[in-house]
Amino acid sequence: MFGVRSCERDPLLKRPFCYFRKRGDEIDILYRVVGKMTSIMKGLRPGDKVEILGPLGNIYPMEEAECGAKIPLVIAGGVGIASVYPLLERLKGKGILFYGGRNKKEILLRKELREISKKMVVATDDGSLGFRGTAVEAAGDFLKGRDREGFVLYACGPNGMLKAASGLGVNGYIASEEKMACGIGVCLGCAVRTKDGYKRACKDGPVFRTGEILFD
Ligand SMILES: Cc1cc2nc3c(=O)[nH]c(=O)nc-3n(C[C@H](O)[C@H](O)[C@H](O)COP(=O)(O)OP(=O)(O)OC[C@H]3O[C@@H](n4cnc5c(N)ncnc54)[C@H](O)[C@@H]3O)c2cc1C
Ligand code: FES
Repeated sequence: MFGVRSCERDPLLKRPFCYFRKRGDEIDILYRVVGKMTSIMKGLRPGDKVEILGPLGNIYPMEEAECGAKIPLVIAGGVGIASVYPLLERLKGKGILFYGGRNKKEILLRKELREISKKMVVATDDGSLGFRGTAVEAAGDFLKGRDREGFVLYACGPNGMLKAASGLGVNGYIASEEKMACGIGVCLGCAVRTKDGYKRACKDGPVFRTGEILFD
């Protein structure tokens, strides 16, 4: 969770971001400017002081992928790529990545991703780069005629994308982008409806098993 110093009080609540990557002694956050906090982040300069609470929440389980029992099928939408980037790095080329955005401009880090993925399929809604359509549709095309049992899914992106990815019939894990307030399991502001009742995305997630979250 990333925030301005508490003495400044605006915005009051910290915002959740993924650990993206480590370079030397520094940790990078990959973010899209959408509102107040991310606009402040864009204006930060070296030496500015901020508040960080974390790391919080769980991570993608990787046993089946790392031992080679299943082929990792990784789907990322937009800045969801920040969530799966460390996973791809750890998989050392074993993963197949389907990465989608609205257009070519939204597809970031192409060179770096090619270096860490065995295979990468880019999908854009407007067809300006790669497959025309969504990353989930591209993954669906790829899976045609293949045994889905041989794959383990890892997906991060907006809710609509996660719902569609869950429908691919590949078991695995999805990372919720539910909005958060406290980040430590107290306020219940990040409740997600699951087949076992409501769970907290910040504490019980943000990574959930496919089929666990009940989408509207
Ligand atoms: C676990 C988790 C990890 C995340 N990791 C990243 C990351 O690595 N990089 C990144 O760019 N973003 C990430 N996000 C989303 C990020 O937290 C929001 O974009 C951020 O809170 C926006 O803050 P703001 O003050 O700039 O915008 P606000 O003023 O709070 O909101 C601006 C607009 O964005 C919408 N919005 C805010 N939060 C979300 C959200 N979670 N999902 C969809 N729409 C939202 C609001 O409804 C509003 O329309 C993550 C979210 C979660 C839950
Ligand atoms: S954000 Fe407060 S309980 Fe999850």
